[in-house]
Amino acid sequence: MGFERWFNRTLNQVWGFIEDRTGMPKWALRPQPEFTFKPSYWTGAFVVNAFLYQVISGLLLLLYYQPSVNPTYTACGQPVGTLSTSPAAWCSTYYIVHSVPMGSLLLSTHLYGSYAMIFLAIVHFFRGYYLGVYKAPREFSWMVGTLLMLTTLGMGFTGYLLPYTQISLNATNVGLVLALRLPYAGPLIGPLLLSDGTGQGLLSRMFAAHVVLLPLALGALLYAHIALFESHGIAPPATSDPLQRRRFTEEEDKKNVPFMPHIFFYITKWALLYIGLLIGIAALWPWNLPTYAGDLTATGIVTEPDWYFLWLFKFLDFQGVTPVIAIGVTTVIILYVLFLPFLDRSKATHPRDRPVFIIIGTSMLEFWFLMTVWGGLTPGVAITPMEVALRIGPLFAANAVVVALFHWRYRKSYRARMAARTGAASTCPGAYPSSLVGGSRPSVAEASARD
Ligand code: HEM
Repeated sequence: MGFERWFNRTLNQVWGFIEDRTGMPKWALRPQPEFTFKPSYWTGAFVVNAFLYQVISGLLLLLYYQPSVNPTYTACGQPVGTLSTSPAAWCSTYYIVHSVPMGSLLLSTHLYGSYAMIFLAIVHFFRGYYLGVYKAPREFSWMVGTLLMLTTLGMGFTGYLLPYTQISLNATNVGLVLALRLPYAGPLIGPLLLSDGTGQGLLSRMFAAHVVLLPLALGALLYAHIALFESHGIAPPATSDPLQRRRFTEEEDKKNVPFMPHIFFYITKWALLYIGLLIGIAALWPWNLPTYAGDLTATGIVTEPDWYFLWLFKFLDFQGVTPVIAIGVTTVIILYVLFLPFLDRSKATHPRDRPVFIIIGTSMLEFWFLMTVWGGLTPGVAITPMEVALRIGPLFAANAVVVALFHWRYRKSYRARMAARTGAASTCPGAYPSSLVGGSRPSVAEASARD
C-alpha cells in the first residue's frame, strides 16, 4: 500500500511537471469529464491503438519484405541455392512465416490487426452516427473522420497485394477495375496505380502507397482529427433536450479529470488487452500463406478480397450491376457520409429524434452486413433481382417499422418531459448533474478502479 501511494504521488508529480513546462493541457490531451471512463467514449482511441500496433509490426515486417516480382535465390519451399519460380515478394513473405523467429506471429498479428483496426473504425463510425456526434460544432471532425476511414480502407487494399499471392492479385485487379471507373478521379489515378502496366509496376506503387504515402496521409489526418477533438472537447451524451450544450465551458474543463495519467492509463489498459487478444488469436490461428501469383500448378483459386470489401464484390454479382453502377453507388454512399452533418440539420442528437437518418444508417449497416456474409458464403455466384428483393426488402421494411414505432412511442411523452426539463433548466440551464461534470482530481488508483 505504501508503495502504491508513493508510486501514484511520484507519477502525479512527474506529469504535473511535464504539463506545467509544456502547457500540454492547453493544446493537447485535454482534461475530460468523469463520465467518459467508459469504452464507448474512447472508440476512436482504440482505433489509434490499433493503428500504432500496425505501424510497429509493419516496420518490423519491412526488415525482411522484398517488394519485387522477380524470382529469387532466397529459400522459399525450394532447396537452398536453386532459383525459385516464385516472386521475391511472395518468397520473402514465406521466409517471414517459416524462417524468421516469431515471424508467423508477427505477420498474423499485422494482418488480424488490420481487420481489427477496420472493425473498430466501423464501430467508431456507427457510434458517432447513432449518437449524432457529427452535429455542430463537430462537422469537420466528422468529415476528417470520413477521410480517415477511406485512407484506412486504402491501407487494407494496398497491403492485400504485398504477399503477391494469386488470390490477392486477382482481387486487386477487380478493385483496380472499379477504381478506374471512378468519375473524374479514375482517369487521374489510373496511371498512378498502374505505373507502366507491368506486375512490378503495380507492386511498387502499392508498396509505396502502403508504407509511405497512405501512412503519411493517415498521420496528417489523424493529427487534424485529434486537434479538432481537443478543441471541441468530447461530445456530451446524446439528448433530445435542445437546451443541453454541445460542448463544455472552460470552467467546466478545469474541473474535469486530467488526461495524463488518468485517461491515458485507462486507454493503455485497453490497448494492452487488445495486443494480448491479438497475439493470442494469431498464436492459435496463424495465417496460412496462399500460393504465389503465377503458380501454374494451382487450381480452383477464387477471386476474393478481404472481408471488408466482400460487400462490394457481392454487389458486382447482382445481375445488371456493372462496375460503373457499383462505383456510382459507392460514391453516393461516401458523399452521403461525408456531408451528413449538413444533411441532418436538426439540433436533437438522440437517435429516437432522428428517425429518417436512423432508418438510413441502419439500412446501410444491414446492407453491408448481409452483403458481407453473402459474399463470404457464395463468392462469384450470380444473384437475380428477385433474390435481392426477397432478402434485402424484409430487412429494410422491418427496420423502418421498428424505428418509426420507437419514434412514435417516444414523441407521445416528449412534450411532458420537455416541459419538466425546461422548468428544471431555468434554475440551471443546460447543466449536467454535478456527478457527470466531475470534481476534484482523482487518484490514479481511483481512476484505474473505475474500469
Ligand atoms: C479510421 C480511423 C479513425 C481514427 C484513428 C479516429 C480517432 C478518433 C479519436 C482518437 C477521437 C477522440 C475520441 C475517441 O477516442 O472516440 C475521435 C473522435 C471523433 N471521431 Fe474519429 N477516428 C477515426 C475515424 C472516424 C470516422 C470514420 C468518423 C466519422 C465519419 C469519425 C468521427 C469522429 C468524431 C465526430 C469524433 C468526435 C467524437 C466525440 O467528441 O465524442 N472518426 N476519433
